Amino acid sequence: MESVREHGFALWLTGLPSSGKTTIARLIERELRARGLKVEVLDGDEVRQHLSPQLGFSKEERDIHIRRIAYVAKLLVRNGVIAIIAAISPYRETRRYARDLIGHFVEVYVNCPLQVCIERDVKGLYQKALRGEIANFTGVSDPYEEPLAPELVVHSHQETPAESARRVLTRLIELGYLRS
Ligand code: ADX
Repeated sequence: MESVREHGFALWLTGLPSSGKTTIARLIERELRARGLKVEVLDGDEVRQHLSPQLGFSKEERDIHIRRIAYVAKLLVRNGVIAIIAAISPYRETRRYARDLIGHFVEVYVNCPLQVCIERDVKGLYQKALRGEIANFTGVSDPYEEPLAPELVVHSHQETPAESARRVLTRLIELGYLRS
């Protein structure tokens, strides 16, 4: 396999709102930077603010948003950067599109039972969605299609974010994307 210094890879974290994607992504980012690697995090919320403030959460709009993220990730990856994506990215077919576009692609399913995500409710949006105040809210009134064959599943209700991040790094070494 070519060295990660020639090309990067995309580490794509998918999962329900409040499943822990962003927290885990930031821990991995810190660890990879400490190793002297070039890393960027593309967080769904942040990318929306900068590139797609007009996009909502219909399937069509989520697909446009995810395709934009995939395009940016592709540019980063081909320039030797590790792109860590933290986005719900609820549709299998759109994640497949990203995988095919980028090529060097590691999909991590941040698996957390819906009930636990609702209890965490980091941004208070589940409660609003359950009261019917937010339409198309993933897990409540909008679908989330679980990955069928991700490179890794982390169970964020059974392990700490640090443990999940550690498991991701171990998997990246196994896959040949990182040196041990
Ligand atoms: S994605 O489905 O298009 O990949 P993305 O990860 O970018 O989602 O953004 C999700 C964030 O948007 C959530 O963390 C939440 O803060 C906010 N949000 C607002 N409305 C919704 C909604 N209807 N469904 C899911 N997330 C929403």
